[in-house]
Amino acid sequence: MSNDILIARPRGRLQGSLTVPGDKSISHRSVMLGALAEGVTEVRDCLMGEDVRATMGAFRAMGVTIDELEDGRLLRIHGVGLNGLKAPTEVLDCGNSGTSMRLLCGIVAGAGLPATLSGDASLCRRPMRRVTEPLGLMGARIETAAQGTPPLHIQGGRALHGIDYVLPMASAQVKSALLLAGLFAAGETCVTEPAITRDHSERMLRGFGVEVAQSDSRVCIRGGQALRATSIVVPADISSAAFFLVGAALQGRETLTVRAVGVNPTRTGVLDILRLMGAKLSLDNPREIGGEPVADITVHPGELHGAEIPADLVPLAIDEFPALFVAAACARGRTVVTGAEELRHKESDRIETMARGLRALGVTVETLPDGMVIEGCQRLGAGTIEAHGDHRIAMAFAMASLRAEADITIHGASAIATSFPDFVALARTAGLLI
Ligand code: S3P
Repeated sequence: MSNDILIARPRGRLQGSLTVPGDKSISHRSVMLGALAEGVTEVRDCLMGEDVRATMGAFRAMGVTIDELEDGRLLRIHGVGLNGLKAPTEVLDCGNSGTSMRLLCGIVAGAGLPATLSGDASLCRRPMRRVTEPLGLMGARIETAAQGTPPLHIQGGRALHGIDYVLPMASAQVKSALLLAGLFAAGETCVTEPAITRDHSERMLRGFGVEVAQSDSRVCIRGGQALRATSIVVPADISSAAFFLVGAALQGRETLTVRAVGVNPTRTGVLDILRLMGAKLSLDNPREIGGEPVADITVHPGELHGAEIPADLVPLAIDEFPALFVAAACARGRTVVTGAEELRHKESDRIETMARGLRALGVTVETLPDGMVIEGCQRLGAGTIEAHGDHRIAMAFAMASLRAEADITIHGASAIATSFPDFVALARTAGLLI
């Protein structure tokens, strides 16, 4: 059978303990900062999914050597310094990865290199003016396609200057693109965000010896600071762990632990939301790995109920809504999500794709411009889901099988390889029938 179709069977039982792969956001950043540093950076447990491979491919195309050792568990990145990147002679193919494209755009424009960035059909539908406009204010010249979408043509030879920019949306990708461009710019670059978003760039820049000033929602970086190579261990991705946490919570009868998960407070909205919905979670063995907090997360037996999700938790759980919508569908009562318009700009329009999929399983949902109202039901029907090449939609519906009457068939599942290549094998080991 094609690996683009997954069939998830009912009556699976998730239990035990497992480890999920490295954090995608942190993995991208470790490759990027390692490439821009002076000296050799070692990265352990980097996620080797297609998205991070796209980032690695882009830096290789700009003259950076990246060795893959120990079956990919260890990367050795030979940094070229802020002035050492070479203009690529080929299009930088970002595949499905918004993080690759937006952060690379900041770096390539900052380095003053001529380059074209493109990607797959999904990425070529996503909005890029959110990065090209502020980079333009810094002095870059970048052309997009008519709708502000990729490909991006970056003109070389433009020297950037710092700006003081207020982000119109809560986006760590945009914030990071500007801070990375700011490394190359004259003067200081400051970014103010409307809501707190993931701060991995800020933490990791400090780990590479760069001064980053932060007060409340404003971050500033001075241009021209050299990065010093370092060693990084990438914690497990809470966004990948979330599928198993949600699966265990909606099943309600077993205990499941995901080990050594990154619990950076800018990423733990999913835990707060699950608790609001009645899930019983515990965090054990808290420690720090590579400047990021980590813990083992256990889901205990308990029953989910619907909840009104506070809008300030939305950016802290932005990638977890496909899974959380499935949890809401299996909860007792109504769940209301608002303030989540950004979900329409992900690998698919996650409000529409999830609503269609849930309806196919017999769930009553109402879409809102910025969210969804879901009427929880005790059991889901059988059905066929179109994931629209969106990894998180496919994985969320695989978990829905834990409460389904019969098979759930998921099309477009090969996208899972972008962030979680071993998902199916791991899910089977944990007790899902796929
Ligand atoms: C990411 C930021 C988020 C998130 C994406 C990864 C990052 O995107 O959805 O999966 O690594 O900075 P936005 O910045 O567009 O919200």
